Amino acid sequence: MPVMKEIRRTDRHYRYGAVDLMTEYTICESLGSIDSPYMVALREPRTFGSSLAELLMERGVLRPGMRVCEAGGGYGTLMRGFLEERGYLIEYVVMVDLSLRLLERQRRVLSPWSGKLSFVNGNIQEVLHSMSGIDLFIMNEVAGDLETWVNLEPAALPDEVSRLVDSYGLDIPASGLFNFNVGAIRVVETLSKKGWPAFLSEHSSDPLIPSDMGYLERDLDMEGYPREIKLKGHSEFTIRFSHLLAVARFLGREVVTGSFAELVGLAHSPRMRAVFCGRMTANEENSLLYEFLDHVREYRWLLIL
Ligand SMILES: C[S@@+](CC[C@H](N)C(=O)[O-])C[C@H]1O[C@@H](n2cnc3c(N)ncnc32)[C@H](O)[C@@H]1O
Repeated sequence: MPVMKEIRRTDRHYRYGAVDLMTEYTICESLGSIDSPYMVALREPRTFGSSLAELLMERGVLRPGMRVCEAGGGYGTLMRGFLEERGYLIEYVVMVDLSLRLLERQRRVLSPWSGKLSFVNGNIQEVLHSMSGIDLFIMNEVAGDLETWVNLEPAALPDEVSRLVDSYGLDIPASGLFNFNVGAIRVVETLSKKGWPAFLSEHSSDPLIPSDMGYLERDLDMEGYPREIKLKGHSEFTIRFSHLLAVARFLGREVVTGSFAELVGLAHSPRMRAVFCGRMTANEENSLLYEFLDHVREYRWLLIL
């Protein structure tokens, strides 16, 4: 049977499904509290939200009176760590999510800051256009859930993909079927035109590995196109970051990108190397380390300034 090109969506899963982020193994949840067993992988214990706040401070993005939007905030864990670290700088936060259940959970987790928060139930791809008055946009581990064209042939692109490829000079394979992150590209296009500073992150099809941790490249495609990741009840896709960078740059924005390994402060120790290279999973702590390394190495972030 011939494979058909089609757009894949996850909106029904998140809107109506019983979403369990523990089955998705998000880095944000793994590093959600300093008591997490995964902290053993870091140079010093630090929640993901706190590491992100530090990155944004270093890059000069955070300043007093900021109005922040987080899309797809899941259990509210990133925003909790972020507000614990730098809440005094934040005037207002709007959380946008497709899932009413997750918004309810975010409301509970973020109740200490309730006076600063509002919650919007909607699809960020639609809501973004009508939003204004935002100084910082955050979308962590969500881009791979947005619409993705699958099984495209380079010589027979859908009109919208053709427009994006031609307008922004996006590289696509010369032959063979490939997938295309149309939803993530649309979001970056809109954000870039709005002029908002933005942080986005996801599993990457073109990951970055710190130069002194080259062993983490094992069996990874470093220049690939989006790959399907099958999860409980839905699939997500890795993101071709070079496409997002090209769109933001073309629209005149400055961009910085890096690996999660550096963002979260992965410990660069001989033990890490031994556990990963030797696939040492016999005891529980090594097994957690191996699992974390195998997962985190594919993650990449993008900051649009
Ligand atoms: C994989 S979870 C990531 C959660 C959290 N950001 C983290 O890093 O742990 C995806 C989140 O994005 C939300 N989501 C997925 N697609 C969305 C869309 N199109 N618009 C708004 N929220 C969306 C889901 O309901 C969920 O909260």
